[in-house]
Amino acid sequence: MGFSWVFAVIIPYVFLVCDGFLLDDRNKPATTSRSLLTDENYNALFNLIVHERQSRAKLEQQLARIERELTATQQGVTDIYHTSTDNNNTLENQAKIWNEIRSECNHLNTENDLLKLKVDSIEKKHTVLENYTKVLEHEVASLQQLKGVKDLQTVMNVRNETKVLREELKLTNNSLNSLRSEAEARKQDFVALLNKADSTERNLEITVKALHNNMNNVSETQHQTKLEIKRMENDMQMYQNRTFKNLQENLGLEIHNMSNRAAFTACAKDQTYSTATSILFPDVQTRFGVSNSALSVFGGSGKYTCGEDGLYLISGFFMTDATGYVYLNFYKNSIIFERIYFSVTTGHSYQTSTTVILQYLNKNDTLHLQPYSTMRVFGSSYSCISFLQLTN
Ligand SMILES: *[C@@H]1O[C@H](CO)[C@@H](O)[C@H](O)[C@H]1NC(C)=O
Ligand SMILES: *[C@@H]1O[C@H](CO)[C@@H](O)[C@H](O)[C@H]1NC(C)=O
Ligand SMILES: *[C@@H]1O[C@H](CO)[C@@H](O)[C@H](O)[C@H]1NC(C)=O
Ligand SMILES: *[C@@H]1O[C@H](CO)[C@@H](O)[C@H](O)[C@H]1NC(C)=O
Ligand SMILES: *[C@@H]1O[C@H](CO)[C@@H](O)[C@H](O)[C@H]1NC(C)=O
Ligand SMILES: *[C@@H]1O[C@H](CO)[C@@H](O)[C@H](O)[C@H]1NC(C)=O
Ligand SMILES: *[C@@H]1O[C@H](CO)[C@@H](O)[C@H](O)[C@H]1NC(C)=O
Ligand SMILES: *[C@@H]1O[C@H](CO)[C@@H](O)[C@H](O)[C@H]1NC(C)=O
Repeated sequence: MGFSWVFAVIIPYVFLVCDGFLLDDRNKPATTSRSLLTDENYNALFNLIVHERQSRAKLEQQLARIERELTATQQGVTDIYHTSTDNNNTLENQAKIWNEIRSECNHLNTENDLLKLKVDSIEKKHTVLENYTKVLEHEVASLQQLKGVKDLQTVMNVRNETKVLREELKLTNNSLNSLRSEAEARKQDFVALLNKADSTERNLEITVKALHNNMNNVSETQHQTKLEIKRMENDMQMYQNRTFKNLQENLGLEIHNMSNRAAFTACAKDQTYSTATSILFPDVQTRFGVSNSALSVFGGSGKYTCGEDGLYLISGFFMTDATGYVYLNFYKNSIIFERIYFSVTTGHSYQTSTTVILQYLNKNDTLHLQPYSTMRVFGSSYSCISFLQLTN
């Protein structure tokens, strides 16, 4: 279609150009007269030919250019044809989109109408509000004018008083609240006290009951105690009886024990003893717990062999008439443990020296007395020695 359109353009153009050439009045053809060709005519013809040649060349050039353009146009048209298919599709899509857009537009239009209605109503309301604002402004202005007036002062005072009253009310409310909480607390205290009193009463009841029970228990206990005391008395008597019996037995044993302890008194043989001879004690006057044999050895040799371990009280008295400086040595196992001195200064004088000594003796310890120098020892009741075993 584009192709034929191009031809339709070109052909009229060509004819127009030719036509233009024919219609040009400056190039009017010479009238066909029988007159000879004048110079003027010749020049005109020549010019015409030249002009015509130039025109043809021009036309040829133009034709060539047009051909080139035609080719280019054809190419362009072909390209356009191809692209137009794509464009057609694109356009179709666009058309679809456009339809959608149009429907959306319609929808928007509808919404827009609704919005317009709303805006209208808002505008109306706004106007009313504006009117109201104006009224308010007017009132405020009149109020502001009132400020200077006494009425306003009164209003302010009233407001101030109201403020003060409100503060006071707040304070009162606070006090009331604190009072209320205090009352609540007191109430709680009271309830607690009541509960306590209740529980105390209950406790008291229980205690009284318990006391009652205890009283019964006490009389019961008293009774039992009496029985117990009786039983204890009996026990005590039994114990006493037993102890007494034991004591009696023990006492008997002790007496027996005591009688077993060594206790004897033996008196010396009256004679003059020379140095380093033992004084003999053959005269036994008292004897407990000592064998006869031991005492007979003592009497015969003057040596006493201890029969039993123990603490012994040894006492004696000895009389001499030896003048001057004499003494007796008391030996235990050949060691002197005591000296007994005499110092008779004149003739026919006598002296008794005594001794009391405690000695712990082991069994088989031997004891004997020897004068340091020759001396007479009176016998019988004048010179005696006693052993008393105090402990076992
Ligand atoms: C473009 O699309 C229309 C409608 O679908 C069709 O009639 C027409 O022939 C198409 N043109 C081309 C050049 O494809
Ligand atoms: C607003 O006030 C003007 C003048 O006071 C009045 O003419 C108009 O009707 C009022 N508008 C409304 C909506 O009340
Ligand atoms: C409100 O009262 C207080 C004390 O009663 C006073 O100091 C204050 O100036 C008053 N204010 C006005 C606006 O009267
Ligand atoms: C008074 O105190 C109570 C408890 O705090 C509160 O609920 C009430 O709003 C107060 N009233 C006033 C007038 O302050
Ligand atoms: C006596 O007291 C004991 C414990 O103290 C109790 O077990 C017993 O029930 C009481 N008896 C009476 C009769 O209250
Ligand atoms: C204790 O001894 C006394 C007197 O000998 C006797 O009357 C009493 O029954 C004895 N008591 C006991 C519990 O043996
Ligand atoms: C004698 O008494 C002692 C203790 O003093 C004792 O050990 C010993 O058994 C008693 N002897 C007799 C026969 O009772
Ligand atoms: C004491 O002497 C006797 C006889 O010599 C002896 O049998 C005994 O073992 C001696 N006892 C002690 C404790 O020395």
